[in-house]
Amino acid sequence: MKKHIFNAGPSLLADEVYASAAKAIMDFNDSGISILSISHRTPDFDAVMSEADALFRELLHIPDNYKIIYLGGGASTYFYEIPANFLGKKAAYINTGVWSKKAIKEAKRYGEVEVIASSEDKNFNYIPKGFTIPEDADYLHITSNNTIYGTEYHEDLDSPIPVIADMSSNILSRPIDVTKYAMIYGGAQKNLAPAGVAFAIIREDMVDRVVRDLPTMMQFKTHMENNSMFNTPPVFPIFVLKETLKWLKSIGGVEEIYRRNQEKAQLLYDEIDRNPLFRGTVEKDSRSLMNICFVMAEGYEDLAPEFMAYTKEQGIVGIKGHRLVGGFRASCYNALPKESVEVLVKCMQDFAVKYAK
Ligand SMILES: Cc1ncc(COP(=O)(O)O)c(C=O)c1O
Repeated sequence: MKKHIFNAGPSLLADEVYASAAKAIMDFNDSGISILSISHRTPDFDAVMSEADALFRELLHIPDNYKIIYLGGGASTYFYEIPANFLGKKAAYINTGVWSKKAIKEAKRYGEVEVIASSEDKNFNYIPKGFTIPEDADYLHITSNNTIYGTEYHEDLDSPIPVIADMSSNILSRPIDVTKYAMIYGGAQKNLAPAGVAFAIIREDMVDRVVRDLPTMMQFKTHMENNSMFNTPPVFPIFVLKETLKWLKSIGGVEEIYRRNQEKAQLLYDEIDRNPLFRGTVEKDSRSLMNICFVMAEGYEDLAPEFMAYTKEQGIVGIKGHRLVGGFRASCYNALPKESVEVLVKCMQDFAVKYAK
């Protein structure tokens, strides 16, 4: 039976990407050697790195004065490396949930953290607005999409200080103005690759803002100057990332995927709003295109386990909500086909026919 994979991450990738990853594991570039067994210092892998770089730049319109790096360690490594590199006296953070909080916790090891806005008062079900960004902070950190709660910034912020954004769960899902950010980073295991690689897009002049001497591996400069080849990079995840970028370009790039993501999200949000059995958990103007959270409506709470079992029978995987929110979370990342959302919507409609009072 066809599976509909709504996992929050690691998540699904495009079928074409699975096929080329499988081929490369058996025989990379018709070399007779698996991608898992090549040296990262071969011309063939250099070509993978260069192609990934060129595609990332083309798809996201990344200007020449930014460097793209790939490291192991996940987005969580950046939570401490960012303040280690850039936090001298004070940094500003916006708290939109668990991942922001983890970033804040690490930043506090290095200096003062001013939390300039938070949505904690309503269990992080909205993106704060109307805050003032302090000009005397070294940078502002935001989480552009909040995977657990299903909230997302819908615009790039104007800021007098460098903006650093964790885009783990919405990178390449919508057009952004890269020039509004000093640094964009994230784990690649949602929209780009299998787990094992984290990316960062860093404006070159940020290197001049480094505030302390650090171990070589912790300095962003090391990886920017060595094209992520200072040590052994995550070879296979980077190869798959490159294949995902190729696939994205082949279907029409970020503009086309944004159109598809909007279409999928609208289908599901419309059903949540229309169907008396379900209720969305996020304020409408903060809704994420990537992670769509909903619960059973009042009076129907007891039906949750049965709904879960029913969706499973239809091949749906991964819609259990995070324990901090409960209910359901449908992660509709780039590679999720519209058909999968239609199957979920049909399950909701079937339930309404059977149970609506
Ligand atoms: C928004 C966001 N930031 C950071 C992380 C942590 O990423 P990693 O597990 O790669 O450290 C996650 C993981 O789901 C996430 O969703």
